[in-house]
Amino acid sequence: MEEVLLIDDVHVEDSYPKGGIISIWTLNRPNKLNALNHQLHEEIKKQCQRVESDDNIRVVVIKGAKPLPALEGKRAKPSAFAAGADISEFEGKNSDDVRSFFEDNGWEAVWRLSKPTIAMVDGFALGGGTELALSCDMRLASNDAKFGQPEINLGLIPGGGGTQRLCRLLGYGKAMEIVLGGNMIEADDALKIGLVNHVFESSELESATISFAMNIAKKSPYTIKVAKRAIRASLDLPFSEGVLAERSEFVALFDTEDKEIGVKAFLERKNPKWSGR
Ligand code: COA
Repeated sequence: MEEVLLIDDVHVEDSYPKGGIISIWTLNRPNKLNALNHQLHEEIKKQCQRVESDDNIRVVVIKGAKPLPALEGKRAKPSAFAAGADISEFEGKNSDDVRSFFEDNGWEAVWRLSKPTIAMVDGFALGGGTELALSCDMRLASNDAKFGQPEINLGLIPGGGGTQRLCRLLGYGKAMEIVLGGNMIEADDALKIGLVNHVFESSELESATISFAMNIAKKSPYTIKVAKRAIRASLDLPFSEGVLAERSEFVALFDTEDKEIGVKAFLERKNPKWSGR
């Protein structure tokens, strides 16, 4: 069977507790611009389970496989993170055929992860590709990245949470423009509207992404999860309840070993050696 998701677990030096890993996932269907077919969703869901059960995995990075060399007489395929859901799986299907798949998909599995996730986008991230990037906590892009929700051109709308996540991230008007217009968004514009966190030269994207992930992977894994949970709470809770939720998380951290380790290390001008508790 085609290996549609490649996994590279990269060791993080000087991480505490020892053994920290950044798990790098490569969407690997370069001849189909890494389109997200059923099999790829299944693999993503499996990896999400592994990440939750492995305490050493501190951060997840998702990227697309680079284009393969062009065959003789053919043009090379363009770079892609993912050019969407696999459209070939849509033809002739009715709602009963697709409902169960869309109820349990890779976009939500990534979104539900308790650990930080980063999308590294080089080339096209369209439709379900933009949605997978939106399911990640942060997005780093190359100056060749192109985002968009072109489903409207297929008589569809985003089905992997795109309408909701775009609206939360960018606001109502921009979400409307992107979903109703179906146009592509160049990297510079994506940066201006806050769709991506940073843009790098293509040649620098990978190393910049690893450094970005390493920085997070070296924090206390316990505190990182609490921070993610507190920020997430802002999406579901009214403002005043969100502030209460944050305060409750903050106060509870005073019972952790890592708060004591972090404060002591600061006062002694040392690097903290987290316990993860
Ligand atoms: N699903 C399935 N296959 C896809 C795909 C998708 N979402 N996006 C691209 N592909 C396939 C193409 O069918 C083609 O396969 P082939 O070479 O076997 O014919 C291959 O990937 C390369 O794509 P191609 O369209 O030839 O590249 P291009 O450089 O001419 O155009 C895009 C690139 C991204 C503009 C174009 O592929 C595109 O519009 N893709 C669909 C985007 C979309 O609507 N996504 C939302 C899906 S809900």
